[in-house]
Amino acid sequence: MYNSKAYAAHSESSPLTSHTISRRDPTDSDVQIEILYCGICHSDVHQARNEWSGMMPTVYPCVPGHEIVGRVTSVGSAVTKFKPGDLAAVGCMVDSDRTCPECKAGLEQFCNNFVLTYNFPDKHLGGVTYGGYSDSIVVDEHFVLRVPSNLDLAGTAPLLCAGITTYSPMHHWGVGKGKKVGVVGLGGLGHMGVKFAHALGAHTVVFTTSPSKKDDALRLGADEVVISKDANEMAKHAGSFDFILDAVAAEHDINAYINLLARDGNITMVGAPPQPLAVGVFGLLFRRRSFSGSLIGGIAETQEMLDFCGEKNITSDVEVIPIQKVNEAFERVVKSDVKYRFSIDMASLKSE
Ligand SMILES: NC(=O)c1ccc[n+]([C@@H]2O[C@H](COP(=O)([O-])OP(=O)(O)OC[C@H]3O[C@@H](n4cnc5c(N)ncnc54)[C@H](OP(=O)(O)O)[C@@H]3O)[C@@H](O)[C@H]2O)c1
Ligand SMILES: [Zn+2]
Ligand SMILES: [Zn+2]
Repeated sequence: MYNSKAYAAHSESSPLTSHTISRRDPTDSDVQIEILYCGICHSDVHQARNEWSGMMPTVYPCVPGHEIVGRVTSVGSAVTKFKPGDLAAVGCMVDSDRTCPECKAGLEQFCNNFVLTYNFPDKHLGGVTYGGYSDSIVVDEHFVLRVPSNLDLAGTAPLLCAGITTYSPMHHWGVGKGKKVGVVGLGGLGHMGVKFAHALGAHTVVFTTSPSKKDDALRLGADEVVISKDANEMAKHAGSFDFILDAVAAEHDINAYINLLARDGNITMVGAPPQPLAVGVFGLLFRRRSFSGSLIGGIAETQEMLDFCGEKNITSDVEVIPIQKVNEAFERVVKSDVKYRFSIDMASLKSE
């Protein structure tokens, strides 16, 4: 075991502060990574503040962070994919049983025995896992991703959650040329959704509550932007979408979007508001529409997404901050005031 510098929340209402955690010494199949950047996902805010207490109560101290890029510092004797000095990345999962049908299908995100990167039982050290708001992490090589060498590292970190969470459902639902695709909520997930829908050749429409984000939405690849509070603008798109990705982090009217779907159209929730959403069933009956959800993506698909980003030179638009600004950043995430992801420069932890 060795000590690692981190930032942790100590209760649901206290700010994150400097903290020391233990990391395991790498086992034969482990990769030890010096963390260079970690993105701030809205899930980190939900979890640090115990907003998902019903589903996943937070254990304190909580070290969030599941959008990790860094450099390999050492590897166990059985590791074949990585060597010291390589770039490496870790997303939302650090383990699973690897034997169940989900794991065998490359869908580790649906494994009953998966281990999330933070706030999950740590079978090596006891207690819970600690995430990427720290200077180092040790992860089994199966859950470590390769990073294309041409990508900016600060902007690559958010691909490990915001990227795969939007890429995976778009592939599942066949987003591509000739499809009309909506993205609801231009935040961390939403702006990646726009980049992917555009890169996949779909006609891409952004729905935002923030008129000030209109120009950015167009720059990011949207063909049209709708201010969702404007009922007339919404009505123009009734019954026309093949697919809508909803990345909103708070309670909102989902029926307004269901009504925009064409026959057999699908709306997928990736946003995880703590409150239930009221679904008007009639909106689903007419035109045989469907409403579904999606959770991150499997390890193989995450690697595919990173390689796709490498080919197309896609990264997240980031505001790079030192770890000392993490509490300010959390407040700005809650206010939808981030363009479009915070990425923490972990070199800033050295002075703690
Ligand atoms: N399913 C998964 O696997 C998965 C993975 C990661 C994250 N998540 C969840 O996805 C959600 C989004 O995460 P994120 O990091 O992208 O968050 P984010 O950066 O805060 O973006 C959320 C966006 O939703 C819109 N929004 C916020 N409050 C709203 C409200 N009251 N009504 C309507 N729109 C509102 C805003 O966009 P506009 O300003 O454009 O309206 C905001 O930028 C979170 O709940 C997070 O926990 C799920
Ligand atoms: Zn996330
Ligand atoms: Zn499994």
